[in-house]
Amino acid sequence: MSQKLQAAITGVAGYVPEKVLTNKELEKMVDTTDEWITTRTGIKERRILEDGKGPSDMAVLAIKDLLEKTNTKPEEVDLILFATVTPDLVFPATANITADKAGLVNAFGYDINAACSGFIYALTTGAKFVESGTHKKVIVVGADKMSSIIDYQDRATCIIFGDGGGAVMLEPDEEGYGICDSILKSDGSGRKYLHQKAGGSVKPPSIETIQAREHYVYQEGKQVFKAAVSNMADVSRRIMERNNLSAEDVAYLVAHQANLRIIDATRNAMNLDEEKVMINIQRYGNTTNGTIPLCLWEWEDKLKKGDNLILAAFGGGFTWGSVYVKWAY
Ligand SMILES: CC(C)(COP(=O)(O)OP(=O)(O)OC[C@H]1O[C@@H](n2cnc3c(N)ncnc32)[C@H](O)[C@@H]1OP(=O)(O)O)[C@@H](O)C(=O)NCCC(=O)NCCS
Repeated sequence: MSQKLQAAITGVAGYVPEKVLTNKELEKMVDTTDEWITTRTGIKERRILEDGKGPSDMAVLAIKDLLEKTNTKPEEVDLILFATVTPDLVFPATANITADKAGLVNAFGYDINAACSGFIYALTTGAKFVESGTHKKVIVVGADKMSSIIDYQDRATCIIFGDGGGAVMLEPDEEGYGICDSILKSDGSGRKYLHQKAGGSVKPPSIETIQAREHYVYQEGKQVFKAAVSNMADVSRRIMERNNLSAEDVAYLVAHQANLRIIDATRNAMNLDEEKVMINIQRYGNTTNGTIPLCLWEWEDKLKKGDNLILAAFGGGFTWGSVYVKWAY
């Protein structure tokens, strides 16, 4: 019996820059230690994109691979959604720049900014276009050049973030595979704990804002940590409950890679064994919108058709959510 129209993920690709920034190198830049970073975050190294390049450059490489894998011509793509907090330019949208560079001549597109939850927001948005029947090949990208907004004199933030990204293809499915359910939440009152002070229209760039180092990520880590742990665990448990999924039914938790301790807390709340969570934070740190597609990309070979995945994220805004995906290949 054919089921309702859903958006299946039919391919995934990723890209990380070659340049590696290790904890040992950070020891020479700020007052920190490899041991502190490893025990508090799980991160050992992260990647840094070269000057003069932006998220669109990473996305174009991932999309090239994605088109090949899914046997898609660039002109067949009808929508591109780009989740990022570090757009190439303030405007136009990085989605438009990427579509131009990748030859997606028939795609319209726009950016989605929901900080670290951007990719799951964009995935859900892209799925709606497919479910409505209006769009048949939708690319959802999550990519960030966090090194462009990180203060490498601030030991509390520079140890966490890195650059990278990935993309998935969404296509119609009537056999029950794909994006089955989403819970997306936000609470803007959390903005005081995680934001960039200047560079927006309220405080445009000036000599003063640059001297005050206000063009970087500002974070009150403890507050963010507490909110992330409780909210990611809450939505992940709820999405399992309302889809009647037990821990045995879940193949993988695909968690936003913010901090190993946050990922562990979410996994525990879902009662999942350790081998059922995708973790690459030790190699890439927090790539913001890149974390979830990068995990899917690296685990793609292990995934089987029918696997139940729970994607979960938390980020600035605050924003958070979880998505239930039935893997389609
Ligand atoms: C940032 C984070 C790793 C800090 O860990 P923490 O255990 O909360 O540590 P605190 O911020 O309380 O700092 C503890 C001490 O370590 C110090 N410290 C902070 N960064 C340090 C570093 N890189 N190296 C060494 N010491 C450091 C602090 O100054 C503080 O010292 P004090 O006790 O003398 O004041 C943690 O709060 C975190 O991961 N938060 C969530 C971040 C996140 O996920 N952000 C992205 C949103 S998705």
